[in-house]
Amino acid sequence: MKIVVLNGSPKGDNSVTIHSVKYLQKKFPEHDFNIIDIAKRIKGIERNRVTFDHIMEAIAAADGVLWAFPLYVLMVPAPLKRFIELIYERGAEATFSGKYAAAISTSIHFYDHIAHRYIQGVCDDLDMRFVASFSADMMDLMDDRERSRLVQFGEHFLCTIQNQYPTAKRYRPLVRRDFAYLPDAGSHSIEVGGKKVVVVTDARPEDGNLQQMVDRLCAAFASDIVVVNLRDLKIVSSCIGCLQCGYDNECVFDERDDFLAFYLDKVLKADLLIFAGTMTDRYFSALWKTYFDRSFFMGHRPSLYGKQLGFIISGPLHDNENLREFFEGYAGWQHANIVAFVSDDVGDSQAIDTQLEALARQGVAFAKSGYVQPSSFLGVGAQKVFRDEVWGRLRTVFQADHRAYVKLGWYDFPMRDIPTHAMAHLGTVGMSIPKVRKQIQEMLKHGVSFRHRKIVEKA
Ligand SMILES: Cc1cc2nc3c(=O)[nH]c(=O)nc-3n(C[C@H](O)[C@H](O)[C@H](O)COP(=O)(O)O)c2cc1C
Repeated sequence: MKIVVLNGSPKGDNSVTIHSVKYLQKKFPEHDFNIIDIAKRIKGIERNRVTFDHIMEAIAAADGVLWAFPLYVLMVPAPLKRFIELIYERGAEATFSGKYAAAISTSIHFYDHIAHRYIQGVCDDLDMRFVASFSADMMDLMDDRERSRLVQFGEHFLCTIQNQYPTAKRYRPLVRRDFAYLPDAGSHSIEVGGKKVVVVTDARPEDGNLQQMVDRLCAAFASDIVVVNLRDLKIVSSCIGCLQCGYDNECVFDERDDFLAFYLDKVLKADLLIFAGTMTDRYFSALWKTYFDRSFFMGHRPSLYGKQLGFIISGPLHDNENLREFFEGYAGWQHANIVAFVSDDVGDSQAIDTQLEALARQGVAFAKSGYVQPSSFLGVGAQKVFRDEVWGRLRTVFQADHRAYVKLGWYDFPMRDIPTHAMAHLGTVGMSIPKVRKQIQEMLKHGVSFRHRKIVEKA
């Protein structure tokens, strides 16, 4: 059988992920794996229609499509996102229809599920027959057991195609509203009181609702706020995964484009930062993804720490929980506060006006009071994953993160908490004695909130 592998790693043949695919290639020599470097060649694919058409021909002749990608900032890399946009822009959806598909990634499992859900969603939208996702750690190929697991995944994918087994769709199609937002004049009343409000958008002239929502947000303020359109910046490349920034946060493109100056002068100086974008397929645009990927020059540091974030989204957000979780995960990891999501998906101009006013008012109020909501699992989990990774195997490369984590006091490993450690030892001995265990268990019924009660009494 013919399997087309769409390589979403900007590193092309040096990709870790593609080596898992090559391993499958060796294990299943009876099948033809045609690896196409999508991410590395994206500029050519975009410029040259013939190159794109050749790829479509290969897909048309294939029995299955394997999406192979690394995780880049909770998602697939920007060039692969761009390739998916090209499928729609060039009307090539039919090429994918009815094809079996699977996804394979490598990562450190930081929000890998978001990227996999995204790809599965795209496959469902393209009417592909999605078989399975395989999300490996970047070093899994070194491990015997993980290699067998990889082979089992390969068998499952190939066997499903060979037998033409049925597959089930996971996502409903996205339904875009036919709705033109008509804003009111705005209150022009909200004083920023020394706080800096920055809107980052990628609105094109045809993104009418998005542009109107951004303008309407601006009209809530008594004074001008900063609006930056990503399309006005010179960004020569998305992240190429070279990891040079890991040592000192310097990106190889710093001297060549506007991204660094924009990030330092606008993003990092904002107190209330609004991300505005139109859903293209199941995410924001590839340009927005480039923004996120290039912001990786800050490594795994929470560069938006303590900021207020708002999201203005044009498109069917209510049908796309995965996109919302992307932003919630991103904010949680950054220790930033989400003020609100406002979307034209509500289909009611007055409601949007009210929500934009509320975003402006509440965003400034939170910026003034310094409120940040407690982290949910999305933030707590993120910090623990990075704490362990940066302290451990990532430290050599990500020296800048290591220095920052020491300063932030983020190496809060439980083994270093001596009193808790001692209590746990003592408790373990206690629990092994039936009489003491019974007493402890009895105490648990009322005892856990004992100290909380004291705080409330004192308040
Ligand atoms: C810009 C960038 C962003 C990354 N973001 C994530 C991430 O969000 N989650 C994760 O688990 N790993 C992340 N990683 C790690 C890569 O996914 C991992 O190293 C992967 O194995 C690289 O695969 P490749 O060699 O095929 O490109 C990131 C790496 C880079 C360079």
